[in-house]
Amino acid sequence: MTEQRFDKIIASQFNISRKDARTGIRKGKGVVDGQVIKDPAAQISVNSQIVYGGKTLNYKEHIYILMNKPKGVLSASSDKKKQTVVDLVPGRLKRNNLFPVGRLDKDTTGLLIITDDGEFAHNAISPKKDILKTYVAELDGEVTEQMVDIFANGVVLADGTVCKKAYLKPLYGNKAEIKISEGKYHQIKRMFGTVGLGVNELSRVAFGTLHLTDDLKPGGCRELETWEIKAVFCRD
Ligand code: URA
Repeated sequence: MTEQRFDKIIASQFNISRKDARTGIRKGKGVVDGQVIKDPAAQISVNSQIVYGGKTLNYKEHIYILMNKPKGVLSASSDKKKQTVVDLVPGRLKRNNLFPVGRLDKDTTGLLIITDDGEFAHNAISPKKDILKTYVAELDGEVTEQMVDIFANGVVLADGTVCKKAYLKPLYGNKAEIKISEGKYHQIKRMFGTVGLGVNELSRVAFGTLHLTDDLKPGGCRELETWEIKAVFCRD
């Protein structure tokens, strides 16, 4: 897909509507390899040097954003009433069609990837791909060796749903690290529920071998590097 309609390139890369892109292009705001192109339907190679409204375009088919999700924000693209993770993405990283890769509960914090790449998202969250997501949970009781074994053998949830094996590691206090490769609704809270433990706090710290980094405060975002995007699909 190296050639695309000019208005499509401009709209997707500058996060403006197709209509605004067409208007701007007709007004002569678009320059391709030094030549003003006023036809929004012109087929343009994305490898050309493209300038729009004086800004040089660094074409990227997709964007991958790492967010440290704060509490109280919905894992969704938009919502009529509540603030969503996509609302928190700063203008410099905004694109049309952004969405979170999987969902974290409203009260869960930590590593969330936001992208406009549907295929990437599908592969990252598909249980078939067996990518481990690592969480730290603060519980209302202690993790026992027996619980570690129950999680390793595949927890059966209260409604009979069987979970894939999960890795549970007691940490200090009533904290525990847990690694799962699926994303069922409230999965971790429901898994701990079956062994009589409540989850007071939950935070995701890694996705594959991609770890949340200290530079991101809650609500902070940054674009992922290519090697970091690959780390999502790596196994420890
Ligand atoms: N499991 C949960 O219970 N909640 C989350 O947000 C993620 C995993």
